[in-house]
Amino acid sequence: MILVTGGAGYIGSHTNKALNKAGYETIVLDNLSKGHEDFVKWGEFVNSDFGNYDELKKLFSSYDIEGVLHFAAFSSVAESVDHPAMYLKNNYKNTLTLLKVMREFNVSNFILSSTAAVYGNPEFTPITENHPLKPINPYGQSKLLVEKALEREKNKGDFNYVSLRYFNAAGADFDLEIGESHNPETHLIPLILDAAIGKRENISIFGIDYDTEDGTCIRDYIHVNDLADAHIKSYEYLINNNESNIFNLGNGQGFSVKNVIDQCRDITKMEIPVKNAPRREGDPAVLIADFNKINKTLGWEPKYDLNDIIESAWNWHKKINSD
Ligand code: UFG
Repeated sequence: MILVTGGAGYIGSHTNKALNKAGYETIVLDNLSKGHEDFVKWGEFVNSDFGNYDELKKLFSSYDIEGVLHFAAFSSVAESVDHPAMYLKNNYKNTLTLLKVMREFNVSNFILSSTAAVYGNPEFTPITENHPLKPINPYGQSKLLVEKALEREKNKGDFNYVSLRYFNAAGADFDLEIGESHNPETHLIPLILDAAIGKRENISIFGIDYDTEDGTCIRDYIHVNDLADAHIKSYEYLINNNESNIFNLGNGQGFSVKNVIDQCRDITKMEIPVKNAPRREGDPAVLIADFNKINKTLGWEPKYDLNDIIESAWNWHKKINSD
């Protein structure tokens, strides 16, 4: 069985669904601090903390776990700036506990949800995996510490990992069984859709004076199902190759905040009022992935574009706001 920590969360639940559809058996471990129990529609569910040593030992004794996909983490850059110790504890120290239990039970396959935030301010774009690692916030720092811990585990032997550095995850399950639902929401696309549906008055554009064509930040948006597919390919790679690797996961294309708002207007047919706001601390001007490495190594490529991302996010948004 595959243990999916954080499988009640956004990316974890989509990957859990994809794993089950691909024939894998899963157990979701989630303490529901951010996740939603009704997102766990596939596999088994255990409501517990991935940093609790005794609970983990019980779990690993009760199930035949062959690998771990580790999504459980705090993931808000702004929150990490306000609560750095909390990010260090949950994202890094608790992961060390998970790794310790994995070693005790001889479980040797691990996939990490990492982030483009490990790179910090890009020195060049598109960003390749060998770009310098200089995170500029505690969130990115906590994930980089985990990557270093994984490398140490690998060097001890009998352990392999894949670290997937996500760019901007967005979109929803096309069957609308699950989707993006953060509280509070901080991400651009769901906030724009809140403005489209009238749940908020407008969308703030954080900075119109960046050194980009239209002055707003450029990001690389990737559909959550493309992320899920990359996890399955990474798991197969771990099982078949007995080696570790690190991959960027993005679409390789950049869209400005204004581009995204315009495309949301086209798709929703809503007006979507905007408000210019100051820059948000810690936002690099441009983040675009070079995904050649995962393409060449695993044959992965994104199937969905920004239109698919916004359309699926909009359908999900309408569904959760009509209930
Ligand atoms: N933005 C706005 N208005 C908003 C919200 C966002 O203009 O109300 C802008 C941001 O300034 C940024 C872009 O929209 O330029 C995207 O912002 P998000 O908050 O949606 O995403 P981030 O790029 O900040 O963060 C994402 C992930 C992080 C990860 C980071 C990597 O959510 O987990 O990419 O840099 F760390």
